[in-house]
Amino acid sequence: MGLKRKIQELKKRREEALRGGDERAVQKQLSMGKLTARERIVALLDKNSFNEYDLFVEHEARDFDMDKKVLHGDGVIVGTGTINGRPVAVFAQDFTVAGGSLGLMHSRKITKIMDHALKMRMPLIGINDSGGARIQEGVNSLAGYGEIFFRNTLASGVIPQISVILGPCAGGAVYSPALTDFVFVVDNISKMFITGPEVIKTVLGEEISMEELGGADVHATVTGNAHFFARNEKECFMQIHKLLSFIPWSNDEKPRVVERKPPRRDYKIEDIVPEDPKLPYDVRDVIRAVVDDSDFFEVHERWARNIVVGFGRMDGRTVGFVANQPLYLAGVLDVDSSDKAASFIRYCDAFNIPIITFVDLPGYLPGVDQEYAGVIRHGAKVLYAYSEATVPKMTVILRKAYGGGYIAMGSRHLRTDFVFAWPTAEIAVMGPEGAANIIFRKEIKEADDPEKMRKQKVKEYKAKFANPYVAAAKGYIDAVIEPAETRRRLAHALEVSERKAVAGPKKKHGLPPL
Ligand code: HXC
Repeated sequence: MGLKRKIQELKKRREEALRGGDERAVQKQLSMGKLTARERIVALLDKNSFNEYDLFVEHEARDFDMDKKVLHGDGVIVGTGTINGRPVAVFAQDFTVAGGSLGLMHSRKITKIMDHALKMRMPLIGINDSGGARIQEGVNSLAGYGEIFFRNTLASGVIPQISVILGPCAGGAVYSPALTDFVFVVDNISKMFITGPEVIKTVLGEEISMEELGGADVHATVTGNAHFFARNEKECFMQIHKLLSFIPWSNDEKPRVVERKPPRRDYKIEDIVPEDPKLPYDVRDVIRAVVDDSDFFEVHERWARNIVVGFGRMDGRTVGFVANQPLYLAGVLDVDSSDKAASFIRYCDAFNIPIITFVDLPGYLPGVDQEYAGVIRHGAKVLYAYSEATVPKMTVILRKAYGGGYIAMGSRHLRTDFVFAWPTAEIAVMGPEGAANIIFRKEIKEADDPEKMRKQKVKEYKAKFANPYVAAAKGYIDAVIEPAETRRRLAHALEVSERKAVAGPKKKHGLPPL
């Protein structure tokens, strides 16, 4: 056979392999508002940049008539391409081929591209659209998932791992994403559960829709399994591009520095925080008032809203922001907000991203519900994460910093490099009302007019502690600054921290509360 004919044969084989699932399955996919796996890759990557591998891989299953089935690409497309000119590795499961279920060869295609991404130090983006372990392949498909989970763990903290949930994902198809850094979901399309409604009906006799069980909204707002929520696939891919613009390609690098831009004029920092410590405000406006172009990219926007985390830039450098959100639950730390903050802090630390913390909270949320839900263990994660982080850390106390909240939110005592406070800061073991009621209980009870005495004692306590100067006198705060100085002071602190180097005691790994 001459070269021409061999090329023709290659083209024919390619054409056949590129077909994906049958017409019925493709129509079902499209009718649900979903793109096909191949269309997704094209939409995600730079134009014409995709290089596919393992197109001709075939499954080897023989049971349950599998030997009679041709599964194109074994239900997954893998390769490398670029996003904004930088290389990424990608896999996309094809639900039109056996429901994107994961058999042995399917898993080998994925683990091969994972190994490649780790070796070449580039992000791995997994587009998941799969019914989980391929039932007909038994333990081989379980083995396949085990190999994937192992590699997710090996790559954790070395290269960015991004999971996109674009279909009904069950079993192993959700555990691999759970091991990755960021999970993206799309309204009406993404579903995540360990076992689907059919299994639930069989085992528990309960009827539940896929959406109720694990729709995009459930995971973006209730469980926190999803970090980003989009209205459609296109918006989701744009979010991925934006995320990638902030983060480095591996833990050996720092994020790319881009051109500096001033914050937009519509955020006047001195007008955002009300002086009355009981009044709420949106702390994201404080972040927007200090970041380049007022561009704040929020992570976990819909979950545990009493804390805000996300990325922004100062003088072109990526920064991770953590801020109490007085708009929700007065910005307290509770089980979920502690988990949210701790995991974000650890991400920033692993990938050389400095952390800026804005503090305004009355403390940890008290109550039986929280105690029973393990607020001690979850709250301790924040202490651990800040203490462990060796990236440059800066904290600004805006208003309230009471009790454990003061210590936990990036205090000096957890080795924060720069601690600033606004003149409105109040640093104390607890709020003035509670404190006065406890330490002056006797005087208040025995007074002729207890209410008058209580007010007087609250005033005395406020005068003594509800300010930043007691902490500043001890050096716990490096500078009391005017709100308008915040950006300049933080940018300077970041600049002088560029070559920060600290080393802790030698250990295999620590034991954070999990
Ligand atoms: C083999 C599968 C499959 C699977 C789906 N299919 N899941 N084939 N193994 N796990 C096939 C279907 O048979 C069907 O084939 C096609 O994919 C499309 O599936 P439908 O059911 O028609 O689609 P839909 O109605 O949209 O429902 C999707 C679904 C449902 C919710 C994902 O298919 C489902 O519940 N699947 C099983 C989910 C599950 O329990 N997986 C857990 C596996 S255990 P045809 O030929 O009819 O088109 C696991 C262990 C790992 O993953 C644990 C790690 C810790």
